[in-house]
Amino acid sequence: MPQKNPAFKRTTITAALPYTNGPIHIGHLAGVYVPADIYSRYLRLKGEEVLFVCGSDEHGVAIPMKAKKEGVSPQELIDKYDGIIRKSFADFGIAFDNYSRTSAPIHHETASDFFKTLHTQGDFIEEVTEQLYDPEADQFLADRFVTGTCPKCGYEEAYGDQCENCGSSLNATDLIGAKSVISGAIPVLKSTKHWFLPLDRYEGFLKSWILEGHREDWKPNVYGQCKSWIDDGLKPRAVTRDLDWGIPVPVEGAEGKVLYVWFDAPIGYISSTREWAAREGEDWERWWKDPQTRLLHFIGKDNIVFHCIIFPAMLKAHGEYILPENVPANEFLNLEGQKLSTSRNWAVWLHEYLEEFPGMQDVLRYALTANAPETKDNDFTWKDFQARNNNELVAIFGNFVNRVTVLTHKYLDGRLAQPGPLTDTDRETLEAIRTYPGKIGNSLDRFRFREASQDLMNLARLGNKYLADEEPWKVVKTDPERAATILYVGMQVAAALAVLSEPFLPFTAAKLKFLLQMDNTEAAASWTSLSTLETLLPAGHQIGESQLLFRKIEDTEIQAQLEKLEATKKSNAMNETQVTPQKETITFDDFSKLDLRVGTILEAEKMPKADKLIVMKVDTGIDTRTIVSGIAMHFKPEELVGKQVTVLVNLAPRPLRGVESQGMILLAEDHEGKLVFVTPEAAIANGMVIR
Ligand code: MF3
Ligand code: ZN
Repeated sequence: MPQKNPAFKRTTITAALPYTNGPIHIGHLAGVYVPADIYSRYLRLKGEEVLFVCGSDEHGVAIPMKAKKEGVSPQELIDKYDGIIRKSFADFGIAFDNYSRTSAPIHHETASDFFKTLHTQGDFIEEVTEQLYDPEADQFLADRFVTGTCPKCGYEEAYGDQCENCGSSLNATDLIGAKSVISGAIPVLKSTKHWFLPLDRYEGFLKSWILEGHREDWKPNVYGQCKSWIDDGLKPRAVTRDLDWGIPVPVEGAEGKVLYVWFDAPIGYISSTREWAAREGEDWERWWKDPQTRLLHFIGKDNIVFHCIIFPAMLKAHGEYILPENVPANEFLNLEGQKLSTSRNWAVWLHEYLEEFPGMQDVLRYALTANAPETKDNDFTWKDFQARNNNELVAIFGNFVNRVTVLTHKYLDGRLAQPGPLTDTDRETLEAIRTYPGKIGNSLDRFRFREASQDLMNLARLGNKYLADEEPWKVVKTDPERAATILYVGMQVAAALAVLSEPFLPFTAAKLKFLLQMDNTEAAASWTSLSTLETLLPAGHQIGESQLLFRKIEDTEIQAQLEKLEATKKSNAMNETQVTPQKETITFDDFSKLDLRVGTILEAEKMPKADKLIVMKVDTGIDTRTIVSGIAMHFKPEELVGKQVTVLVNLAPRPLRGVESQGMILLAEDHEGKLVFVTPEAAIANGMVIR
């Protein structure tokens, strides 16, 4: 992979603007925000000029739809989730220079101006076309308001803007068997005027820019999606919508229409930069218009087409902007084998994680990085999370730092001694430290975050092995000076870890720098200094008090998380169970004919030679009678004795295999087909009427 153009002077890093229709979960973090944060922290540590921007994506049909579901106004909805999302990012150390929102006036202005420029330049096609219209809800249907079968892969629940199964970007009219999400109605076609971005005009440009220009340096998954898009032939795409939530289309004759959310949202990166620049007294344009600025978009794979085809076409049409140099999109993260889903609550929510694992942000950051869905979809499991913590962070990183600092306190009162003569192992260890900034950096430069996190862990392994081999705790008994030299070398590894772990484990790095008292050292100041400085912590340096960096995660904690997911699974299965349609209406008199009583099962036994039948003696309060029921596949007779149940006592007696059954016991089937008795909520006298 060719490395970045040496002419670049600075980097603008964007992370996909999250929709404010729900909180943030581990999938968002693993796919977009942690890698983007690691990368920008890394560049900063190298002393490069970096701007890292993001913000909330608050337009689009998803917002009013979700607001309706929650029974609040769209504004209330976006305010709520914008707040929750901001807090999650801050809590997890995602260090944006600016986090804006697309409802901000500066964004409305930036997006409107962008549209007007393209409009004035004649970059749009204006066309009256037939669009899907919901005759019951009395509104046009686009994007998420309509579902149907994907024409590309046959997935039956594709949306009008995109198929979440194959990732294709769609037009609502492409869907087969389209249905309105609002009313369930079959849409009709109705004409309406819209503005289209003629992507076909950019085919030549996209071919040479991506297919020829970025074949080598873009990730294969990203390049492949772009190629299939371009090969399929690009068509004009509507960039306006008939909707009352969004940025009004800023030209005449567009009343009641707003900008398509995927037109305005990426411009949000620019607005966020402008907001930052205004606040800091900086010039925003050099971050977007100077060819010596490198633009990088961190996104999930469902956003590839928007960031690699549509937004670049917009930027190109506008004419003043730079294009992304790379779009390191990740694949998806699953949770315990199932697709993450906000609506099905199949997720680990960041705000809930923090309540359950307070102060353990870095552990999640690390587990998600070590197991990131970089080249294929990947699975987050709580077992793996525990193993990453216990076997790597605790047993390797934490253990090494703890040993070297505790021993330095014990033998040297926490002050590094002048090292004596160095052995070959000492020299090799010190030399190895110098290679790590390059090693980790090389992985990061290629957006291989998993590999980089393992490089970092290898440095801690190196320190651990060095201590284990040199055994200062034994050596100290016979040769305290040699022990001091060993600790001096070990301490250099610890200092390197404090700096190099910062992009991955920012909270731990801060703790470690504090405990090594190295905040004001030259080594702490930059990534590259580690390879050039003679020594990271000099002789005579005094360290602070020891402190554990990580704690073990117990099996019971993991068990609790798995049980929580089991409960979610169960509640989803219950919610998703299909119920049979209502029967025909009956009168009150019809109902009154049923004589339902509370009864108690006194005896139960299997009917000989009948697989399914159980014969019971039931105290109905009126009498004790025999009832035969086909439940032997579900219950053992002994489980039934003593149970209070509901009995239909006036059902005409009927013989079952020669035994007369004098009534019926009421049961319901649960979502798994298991039978459950209809039992009074509190014990009451047998014979009491149920009505
Ligand atoms: N809100 C979109 C999503 O969550 C991402 C928008 S990225 C932007 O999929 F470029 F449009 F901002
Ligand atoms: Zn599809």
